[in-house]
Amino acid sequence: MLHHIFDTHAHYDDERFDGDREAVLASLPSKGVHAVLNAACDKKSCLTSIELSRSYDFIYASVGIHPHSADEFSESDTELLAGYTKLPKVVAIGEIGLDYHYDFSPRETQKLVFERQIQLALELDLPIIVHDREAHADTMELLQKYRPRGILHCYSGSAEMAKEILKLGMYIAFGGAVTFKNARKTLEAAAAVPLERLLVETDCPYMTPEPLRGTRCDSSLIAYTAQKLAELHGVDPQQLLDRTCKNAYEVYQIAE
Ligand code: NI
Repeated sequence: MLHHIFDTHAHYDDERFDGDREAVLASLPSKGVHAVLNAACDKKSCLTSIELSRSYDFIYASVGIHPHSADEFSESDTELLAGYTKLPKVVAIGEIGLDYHYDFSPRETQKLVFERQIQLALELDLPIIVHDREAHADTMELLQKYRPRGILHCYSGSAEMAKEILKLGMYIAFGGAVTFKNARKTLEAAAAVPLERLLVETDCPYMTPEPLRGTRCDSSLIAYTAQKLAELHGVDPQQLLDRTCKNAYEVYQIAE
């Protein structure tokens, strides 16, 4: 069985796990899941992510305000978030970024809130987890301005943009989308990322890989994503999982 799965981006606080969260989480270690980062997206999920990290040895948390919730951010929240990062298993600021697909918050607000949280991550010397949906140019502008450490999550940009991100020293994470039929552009980008900067993730309960697309996702299904990425890089899936697990420890600075 494949093991050493480090799911660098999951949302187990999502309501789609309300019916069986404990059972799903308890089953993961026996399915090859080594560790999970539960990513916060608003103030409420900062708390639930922290709670999960307290309840399960293998779960870590990030804290941050997603672009969808940028409207709820105020300056005093930087202190709130900074306080949370003092907890031992809070290892990143995220997920933060820009989403011009849904535009749930005004773009100017999204940009200000993203920028403020990048500054916070730099002050705290923490990595960031970046959400960029249809906002590649503005995302790159802020990343190049500040050069933070961290991860481009659920990467959807081009291979060219991936090379620019690699130059900044950042890691790039891929999920179930690499298994989809229309994944040509994403696969080109994934091929351009060397193994030592590659990460795997689910974004569960969303982005379930093929052949299970349409069902609820959990971290064990990274096995399908790893298979596809391993094929692309000409290594075996376990080698790919070993390396991406090591990378996750590096980017989140977790002592092994
Ligand atoms: Ni997410």
